[in-house]
Amino acid sequence: MNSQNLSDLKRWFTAYVKGFYTDDPLYNRAIELKEVHTDRVCRNLLQLAGALNLPHEKQLIAETVGLFHDLGRFRQFAEYGTFKDADSEDHADLGIRELSIHRVLAELEPAERKTIVKAIHHHNRIAIPEDEPEGDLLLMRMIRDADKIDIWRVFAGHYRERKSSRNSVVDHGVPDEPRWSSAIIQALKAGRMADLRNAETLTDMKLLQVSWVYDINFAPSFAIAEEQGNLDRIVSALPDAEEIHAAVRSAREHIAASRREG
Ligand SMILES: [Fe+2]
Repeated sequence: MNSQNLSDLKRWFTAYVKGFYTDDPLYNRAIELKEVHTDRVCRNLLQLAGALNLPHEKQLIAETVGLFHDLGRFRQFAEYGTFKDADSEDHADLGIRELSIHRVLAELEPAERKTIVKAIHHHNRIAIPEDEPEGDLLLMRMIRDADKIDIWRVFAGHYRERKSSRNSVVDHGVPDEPRWSSAIIQALKAGRMADLRNAETLTDMKLLQVSWVYDINFAPSFAIAEEQGNLDRIVSALPDAEEIHAAVRSAREHIAASRREG
């Protein structure tokens, strides 16, 4: 794969996404959310690839994964009007299907294609497989970090603005109540990523997002996230309660330790 391939793919992506815009501003907001997210994830990936000293060709592949990781979101929203996989279908696999229908990766080497598709498929799983080639695992870890860093941005903005402009497309309409799940607090204290199925309130969503620090794979990812400041914004949107402070402290200690080691 070379730089020309990547610019062709970017051009294809832009034209594809353009086809989803309508004359409904609310609908377009959802499409734009994912278009901007895609762009930010690509930037995060480039920054991460630089920090990890990845060779140029690997950077191109990483950026391609970023470009297409959420491709399924556009058709998902057009067909089901939601970004909730549980109420529609898995958006990673939906995107892979779109790539194949439109023969988007046809110019790439079969091995590159396979690596890209695998990274897209695993970007939103609970965990990544262990028995995969090291190069594939690297990409899977990179896209998961770059994605989480940008979802922190999306939600930090959402928590700040939701009172003035409701957008249930982002939070699936969970109630904004100052109660939280003890299972999520337990996960944070135990150093585990919390389970989305335990998230009933917006407070749970915030805590869940804080718990993602336990699923960040690279020390430079913490540096990139810190530079953007969005995790801190999410933390400051949490209720003021000792149980929450303690859980956040554990998460912060984990970040500090990872950065020391990295
Ligand atoms: Fe995704």
